[in-house]
Amino acid sequence: MVALASEPIIRTEGLTKRYGTFTAVDQLDLEVRPGEIYGLLGPNGAGKTTTILMLLGLSEPSAGSARVAGLDPVRQPLEVKRRVGYLPDNAGFYGGLTGRANLRYTARLNGLRGAAVEERIETVLAQVGLADAADGRVETYSRGMRQRLGIADALIKEPELLILDEPTIAIDPAGVSEILALIRRLVDERGIALLLASHLLEQVQSVCDRVGIFIGGRLVAEGRVDELARRLGGGPLAIEVGVEPVDDSIEAVLGGIAGATEVRRDRSDPRHWVVAGDETTLVAIPRAIDAAGFRLVHLRRRDESLDAIYRRIVGADGERPGSPEGASVGPGSAR
Ligand SMILES: Nc1ncnc2c1ncn2[C@@H]1O[C@H](COP(=O)(O)OP(=O)(O)OP(=O)(O)O)[C@@H](O)[C@H]1O
Ligand SMILES: [Mg+2]
Repeated sequence: MVALASEPIIRTEGLTKRYGTFTAVDQLDLEVRPGEIYGLLGPNGAGKTTTILMLLGLSEPSAGSARVAGLDPVRQPLEVKRRVGYLPDNAGFYGGLTGRANLRYTARLNGLRGAAVEERIETVLAQVGLADAADGRVETYSRGMRQRLGIADALIKEPELLILDEPTIAIDPAGVSEILALIRRLVDERGIALLLASHLLEQVQSVCDRVGIFIGGRLVAEGRVDELARRLGGGPLAIEVGVEPVDDSIEAVLGGIAGATEVRRDRSDPRHWVVAGDETTLVAIPRAIDAAGFRLVHLRRRDESLDAIYRRIVGADGERPGSPEGASVGPGSAR
């Protein structure tokens, strides 16, 4: 794996964007490192696209600063664009031209010349699974095919950072897992970093190393998916316990363990119980089972899914109820 100790490829400090009196991005501190897939997760209007536009030098921050690939996007926007692959949420192509011709155009814009161009185009077409469709006109492409072409387009210049804004928005579920696998492969094989903005939790959860939950222009929580689930889960731990032989008396044994507040049967398996408790309970279970003359066949802490957490933070109506307690905000705290 690529060392996480390396310099961040994206670093923002207090990055802010205001439109009049409205603050779209509010003092964002963000760090993404090489070899990392970072998911910017948030509902519509959270400020994801606005953040990306500032990172690329396409929109000027109202306050704060950003460094992208060691560059200042405000002062070196062209250089940033050369180094960073970007798939906008509304990628546009020349419909009358073939996919291959569109890529050729991008390659030339990026200063690629000669035989290297065709070779590069061939590579990225294969990477996104468009080799067979490359010579059809783009206006005949499905939305998913255009999305793939958009990723190919972002890859042409062999970027060290790839920024994808809602990369799977027009793609069917089978296509989505393919695209996500493609993204994972690119990062693992080439050690590039990837920033992926999405309002779809399942996607972010399945492919990202780290996730920032972005709401109302603010990063309200950040961390690895499992960490976030644990940290924001609140409530008591749910511990799955499997015990043999099957015997009702086990309920009292489990209920008597330090910190256990509730014991219930797990309907999926007659040997299984779910104990609500805390870390002490978890640690004490094996010995208690053993002392009571039973055999422990299963022990697992059940984390609240990130889905439930995300819903709770975002709120059912999409409004933000405020920062969750214990959430880490900003870089440094989540690694
Ligand atoms: N040019 C602009 N002028 C005024 N307000 C804007 C402008 N661009 C964006 N906004 C506002 O800033 C907020 C953030 O928008 P942004 O597009 O960054 O959200 P997003 O997280 O990308 O949402 P989505 O999931 O819908 O793509 C929104 O309330 C939007 O209306
Ligand atoms: Mg957006």
